[in-house]
This record gives sequence, structure tokens and C-alpha cells, in this order.
Amino acid sequence: MDRRLALVTGASAGIGAAFARILASHGYDVALTARRADRLDKLAEEISLRYGVETLTVTADLAEPEAPGHILDHLTAHGRTVDALVNNAGYGLAGSYGDTRWEDQKAFIQVMMTAPAELAHRVLPGMAHRRFGRIVNVASLAGLVPGSAGHTLYGATKAFLVKFSQSLHLEAENQGVHVTALCPGFTYSEFHDVNGTRAEAARLPAWLWLGADEVAAAGYEAAEANRPVCVTGAPNKAIAAICKIVPDEWILAFASRNAGRIRRM
Ligand SMILES: NC(=O)c1ccc[n+]([C@@H]2O[C@H](COP(=O)([O-])OP(=O)(O)OC[C@H]3O[C@@H](n4cnc5c(N)ncnc54)[C@H](OP(=O)(O)O)[C@@H]3O)[C@@H](O)[C@H]2O)c1
Repeated sequence: MDRRLALVTGASAGIGAAFARILASHGYDVALTARRADRLDKLAEEISLRYGVETLTVTADLAEPEAPGHILDHLTAHGRTVDALVNNAGYGLAGSYGDTRWEDQKAFIQVMMTAPAELAHRVLPGMAHRRFGRIVNVASLAGLVPGSAGHTLYGATKAFLVKFSQSLHLEAENQGVHVTALCPGFTYSEFHDVNGTRAEAARLPAWLWLGADEVAAAGYEAAEANRPVCVTGAPNKAIAAICKIVPDEWILAFASRNAGRIRRM
């Protein structure tokens, strides 16, 4: 099988669905995974009709530790190896750390850090052997700015993805494998409905927002160009740059005054 295959996690909505369409438009066959099988099947049908590529769907809950292995076993059973991996699945867990259940935080760490790290670890040797690979870890602007109250581990898990991507980028650059951390700011998707902050998010100015298609397109281009980190949109680039030069204490003081405007505690 000579055709290249892209595996996209969290492909049932938002940025993941947009990424799957973009990869297919560039000739990749696509493997779509998430928990909602009906959504995956619908997108797979749309993509194969529109772009004429092969599609596979794998229903999996990345909170289950066995999920990365099951997903890749399913692809192997279909005779396929992964040439591009988009670690996109994610969500926000509202609340202050001490008020949440450890089981929920543990599942969050599994989905946001362990599963992407395991998937990358499993596909990397094959990519290096074939001297071609693309790994995009969908992080966030939240991973580049100081922490905030509420949604406690969100920024921490995204900072992990940024550092992880930078290290992997350096390790893999001579193997034909491009690794990029994609850092979107506010993006139109189901994200804020899922974490219950749609009302807070709706009060933010329109210029802070980008569409999922624009974010995924920026991520695709950054991976092609082998950029280790890609921040989407001019306002987010400015925020990321400011956070590199302004002392963290100032930003934390600002965040303390505005606590609760975006995050739910
Ligand atoms: N939207 C934003 O403002 C924004 C900003 C910065 C970064 N991001 C990041 O972008 C990524 C995509 O988010 P989005 O905005 O596209 O949100 P979304 O529309 O809510 O999509 C999230 C995707 O993740 C999947 N997912 C969630 N939990 C999962 C689990 N336990 N197992 C498997 N799949 C799971 C969902 O599928 P199922 O529910 O079908 O499983 C869905 O396909 C996330 O990593 C998010 O942190 C989003």
C-alpha cells in the first residue's frame, strides 16, 4: 500500500474534523478516531466522496489506557501504517482542582498527555524507518502563557505538549519526521459547549476567535514547513510574544483580577 495515511484523534468535531478534511484534500487517506461513531462515519463518508481517498474509523475513548494500542492494532489489521499523526482530541475540565474528583483529573491527564505521548511513541519508529512523518500535537495558547485559576490542569497539559513537541522536533528532524505543536487561541468548535463555558466565551470579542478550518490549515502548513510551534492568528501571536517579555507575576495579577471571565472555577 503506497498511499499515505493520516490518523486524526478527536476527528468527530471542530479542529480534528477540519484537519481530516485538509489532510484528505492533500491526498492522505485518513483514519478518524473519537468516541462518537455516528459522527465519524458521517465525516468518513463525506471525505471519501469529496476527495476520493480511503477512510477508516475507529471508535475509542482515549481515557482508557488501552485505547492507543487498540487504535493502532485496528489500522495494522487493515494493513496500514501511520504517516501523519494529529494528536487533537481534548476538552476542558471546569472547576478548581480541590473541588474536582481525582478520577476525572486522572482521565484528563490520560486523554491530554499520556495518549498523545503513547501514540507518538508507537508511530515514530515506522516514520523514521520510512523517512517520512508528520506529528502535530494540538496544544493551545494556554500552554504558552502563565497558569490560570480554574480548569487547573488544562494549561499544564498544553505546556507539556509544547515542550514535548519541541524536543521531538529536534530528535526527529534528521529522520524526515516533522513535529509541530499547534497553539490555537479561541476557536469556534464544540469545545466551549462541552466544558460549559459557552456563555463566558460568547462575551469575548470576535477578533479573538478563529474558525476551526483556519486553525487546521495553519497547523497543516506549519507541519509541512517543519515549524516546532505554531501560534494561530495575529492577536494570539501578540499575546504569546508579550508573555515572553512581561514578568509572570504581572500576568498572574492581571489573571487574578479577571478570574472567572473565561475559566469556570
Ligand atoms: N476551541 C478552542 O478554543 C481551543 C483552543 C485551543 C486549543 N484547543 C484544543 O483543540 C483540540 C480540539 O478541540 P476542539 O476545539 O475542536 O473541540 P471539540 O469541537 O469539542 O472537539 C473535541 C474532540 O475531542 C474528542 N474527544 C474528547 N474527549 C475524548 C476522549 N475521551 N476520547 C476520544 N476523543 C475525545 C471529541 O470526540 P468525542 O466526543 O466524539 O469523543 C471531539 O472530536 C483540543 O485538544 C483542545 O484542547 C481548542
